Amino acid sequence: MIRFEGVSKVFHSKGREVAAVQDVSLSVKKGEIFGVIGFSGAGKSTLLRLVNLLERPTSGSVIVNDQENHSLSEKDLRKMRQRIGMIFQTFNLFNSRTVFGNVAYPLKLAKVPKQEINRKVTELLHFVGLADKANYFPEQLSGGQKQRVGIARALATSPDILICDEATSALDPETTNDILNLLKKVNKEYNITILLITHEMQVIRNICDRVAVMENGRVIEEGSVFDIFTNPQTKTTKNFISSVLNDKLSPQLFEKLHSNKSSHLYRLIFTGEETSKPLLSNIAKSFQVDVNILYGNISELQEVLFGNLIVELQGEKEEVAKAVTQLKQYVEVREVTSDAS
Ligand SMILES: Nc1ncnc2c1ncn2[C@@H]1O[C@H](COP(=O)(O)OP(=O)(O)OP(=O)(O)O)[C@@H](O)[C@H]1O
Ligand SMILES: [Mg+2]
Repeated sequence: MIRFEGVSKVFHSKGREVAAVQDVSLSVKKGEIFGVIGFSGAGKSTLLRLVNLLERPTSGSVIVNDQENHSLSEKDLRKMRQRIGMIFQTFNLFNSRTVFGNVAYPLKLAKVPKQEINRKVTELLHFVGLADKANYFPEQLSGGQKQRVGIARALATSPDILICDEATSALDPETTNDILNLLKKVNKEYNITILLITHEMQVIRNICDRVAVMENGRVIEEGSVFDIFTNPQTKTTKNFISSVLNDKLSPQLFEKLHSNKSSHLYRLIFTGEETSKPLLSNIAKSFQVDVNILYGNISELQEVLFGNLIVELQGEKEEVAKAVTQLKQYVEVREVTSDAS
């Protein structure tokens, strides 16, 4: 649906070169919600703007619906842009137009007949839950309501792709969840492929199917949300995950436990049905070990349960080793060797 093939974008400003996007290859499949996460300046917005050619690649190709977008004629480019809706962190609404007028705007530009505009805008305002606010102006709306208008406007030309630049970053946590649920509904009911960028791992966890992590213009890690959460490879990804799971020991607690020779620390990763087995009480009964749970979290990722525990096993080395061997038959066991692991 969207393919980046070896894409780079270099900006020249004030005699300096900024490589905002460097050799990115990614592919977003039809019907999925794909998230790109990264810190400020990682190149996320630039990557997104390459999709609808608000930026042109310095090298490489961006292929949307099997068409290489930078070789399109002006006319085909206009058509292509109608197939891609975009929403923004700051909503970008026209303050002088009503809610109805904002949503109708792209249809007017596309010279859609008035009756059809009325029908479509009414349908969309119902869809986003703003049917009663058609005659309001943006300044009379809350942030969440403004973003609903932004979403309705992005859907007006019946796009098959929606790209979202930090769509929830200006919103409080509860409103963020409402908007994320609305984006899920857009994805399911209209079968629209969504590419979103964010710096919040919460957003990725809540709605994405797959995720890419960007740093300094490059994609440093990519995979299903489940795989990335259960088996992150890079320090940056681990930090993003910790921001939502809070799954690390404090340096002080780690030092205290680590200096005790009969204390052995392990992280246990459970998935699916393993989350409901009494594994820890079994090892405590079978071996000469005491089990202390230091951290525990079970969350749902893409409808599969994922458990993440840090446990302290106390006992003689041999007994602990036997207990670990037994645990490994059921769950993934990683030794915790630093406060970052
Ligand atoms: N038009 C431009 N001219 C020059 N440099 C630019 C331009 N647009 C972006 N950059 C630079 O490219 C890099 C990536 O910027 P980009 O906006 O894509 O990052 P981002 O990941 O979206 O960050 P944020 O989370 O802050 O929005 C930054 O160093 C930025 O200063
Ligand atoms: Mg940005």
